[in-house]
Formats: sequence, C-alpha cells, structure tokens
Amino acid sequence: MFNIITSFLLATCLIGGISAAPASLVEPATTPSYTDVELQATNFPALTNDNLLPPVEQLALGTLPNGPLPPPGGISADGITNLQLIELNEFFEASFFTSLLSNITKNVPGYEINDEKERNEIINALVAIIAAKELHGIFADKALLSQSQPTIRGCHFKFPTTTFDGAIALAATFTDVVLGTLQDVIEIFAINNDDSLTRGVASVVGQEGQQDGFFRLLEKKGKVPSELPFLTTSTRDFAFSFLEQSVVVSCPNNNDDVLKQKLKIFGVLNLLTTNIEPKDQTLQFSFDLKSLDATYGNSYRSAYDWSEVSLVYINQQNTPIVEKVQNVQVDGIQVTFEAFFPYTENLLNGLTIAAVTRCGGPFADASAVAEETLFAPAFIEIN
Ligand SMILES: *[C@@H]1O[C@H](CO)[C@@H](O)[C@H](O)[C@H]1NC(C)=O
Repeated sequence: MFNIITSFLLATCLIGGISAAPASLVEPATTPSYTDVELQATNFPALTNDNLLPPVEQLALGTLPNGPLPPPGGISADGITNLQLIELNEFFEASFFTSLLSNITKNVPGYEINDEKERNEIINALVAIIAAKELHGIFADKALLSQSQPTIRGCHFKFPTTTFDGAIALAATFTDVVLGTLQDVIEIFAINNDDSLTRGVASVVGQEGQQDGFFRLLEKKGKVPSELPFLTTSTRDFAFSFLEQSVVVSCPNNNDDVLKQKLKIFGVLNLLTTNIEPKDQTLQFSFDLKSLDATYGNSYRSAYDWSEVSLVYINQQNTPIVEKVQNVQVDGIQVTFEAFFPYTENLLNGLTIAAVTRCGGPFADASAVAEETLFAPAFIEIN
C-alpha cells in the first residue's frame, strides 16, 4: 500500500529516475500457497533467484525495501556483524515457523487445532510471518553482498519443541530476545555511523513486536498483548549464544565462523526451576564446565572458586541486578547453585535474561554484563 501511494505521488510530481514497477503490481508466476513458503523457507531459492522474490512478497503482504543499498565500503565492520547475525537469526526463525506450520497442517500429534476458524487464522498468520522473516533475511543477505562480505546462508537448525503450546511459548521467548538484541544492533549501527540501516531495522522491531503480541494472546494465559512499557534489552553475544547453544546444527562450510570470530558463545546456563510465578523466590541453576571450553579453554575446570561468581538479571531498561550465588555444589564438572529472584522490588515481568558473571559488578548495562559473562543466557518469562 505504502509503495503504491509513494510511486503514485512520485509519478504525478514528475520526478524522474524511478523506473521499476512497484513489486506489489508484479504478477507472481504461480498462485502462492503455504507449500511455496515451506519450500522457500527450507531452501531459500529466492536468495539466488530474484524471479522468486515476488511470490514471497505476495505472501509477506509487502515488499523488500526498494531504495539503494549503501555503496561498497559504506557499512562498518561491526555493522557487517550486525547483518550477519540478523541473517542467521531470521533464517532460524523462518525455519522454525515453517516446521511449526508443517506440523499444524499435517495434524502432527500435539499440533492439532480443532477449531477450524482458529486453525485457519493461525495458518494465515504463520504464512505471512514466515515470508516476512525470509524477506528480513534476504534484505540482510543483499546488504552483505553489496559490501562483498560473507553471507550466512543455508544453516541447518533443530527445534526443541514437540507441542503447539511449547512452540508458541518458545516463539514468544526468542522473539523477546530478538526485540532486545535489535536494540543493541541499532545502537551499534548508530555508534559506527551506519545510520542508513537504523530506520529499516527499527521498522522490523515494530513488526516483530506485533508478532510477539499475537504469540502472547495465543498462549491463552491471560497475558496482555504488550509485554512491558520498556522491553527488556539484550546484546548480540546473548542472542548468538542462544542460537549456537540451542538451535544451530551446522552451517555450510561453517559460514557462521565469521560470527564466532566477532561474538562470544558463553557456557550453557540451565534454569532448573520451572513454572516461575510472579513473586520473590529463590531460583535453581546449573552449568557444566565442559560447555565453557569452546570459548574459554579448560582452565576453569580446576581451582576456580565458583562461590565467587555472581548471578545477574537483565530486565527491561534497568541497571542489571546482581545477586550472590548460594548453596554452590560442585560435582566434577557439574555445578549447581541458587540465587534470589527479587521480583517484587523490580517488577520483573516479561523477559529476564540471567547470566553468571566472573565478578559482582556493579554493571552499568547489559553490554558490561556480557563482558564479564561465563555462562548464559537463561531466560525467565513472567506475565
Ligand atoms: C514439529 O514436529 C516435529 C515432530 O514432532 C518436532 O520434532 C519439531 O520440533 C516440531 N517443530 C516445532 C517448531 O515445534
């Protein structure tokens, strides 16, 4: 709609230089259906064949931005890392929702939706969501190509969910993480003078927020669609650690190595307490020292005093909360401990990111926490 109006105005104002027809007026070669999206999301042929873009745009109900990309050399090194992380994440999300859509349409046990109207609404929403994620990923890919920088295509992902409710709860959580991480991405673009990319990413933040409201209602737990007045922030390291720890199986030619050179993969932090309620309480966590080796080597395995680490909570736009670890039990390379969760004083609703840090801070912000983090992220969702 926006594109049609813009080009109409441009045409009547007789401003030259705009020759391409708006993509929304291009007839797709075939009538798109969700099976096309399924195909696109697993193979992404539209990445390499621009003729396959219009059907994806039809399903996404809108187009790729049609303005010029920054000139070669026009994106900073950190800006390139932002785009590579966005590409990896968007294609993970497209794959996840494609798997979910396939499970729903095939009535896989655990994914049956009996109410026909509701089932159709969910299928329609997922088709648009998948196509939008592909366009987000393709946008990042094209921006990377414009700079002759490595793209992160074709990775293989695994999904930890086996029911519709579980998948929606996970979707709400990883979308929250994306909403927090894109704050970091926009700040890094801004610091590095990549201002031409900030507006487009801000438009995606809103789009993902709309999805999140939908997931929150689908959870049917009486949640309000908008989670918090100021959404929880995250950093690229926390998002990349989640992706590499939990969902990335492999990438062709290890093309995600460019991200491993720039971003950290922390050790795995397990949250053992389940069904966390909105109240002050003590939470149980564990970690396995082996999961630290890839990033920090095995020097932490011996002679490290684990009662010296801290548990940090990142929630909303507030200064990170530091808690002492309690009741630390070391059993070989397995460490379990407890930490207080100060819900009442801080109104810890929505997403909270937990991290184990080397020192006790105080930490000015989430980036300062990531600098000192050993194990993370664990995600807590309340209300
Ligand atoms: C779809 O179902 C399969 C088989 O149960 C499961 O392994 C996979 O995780 C499911 N996908 C999602 C996104 O839940």
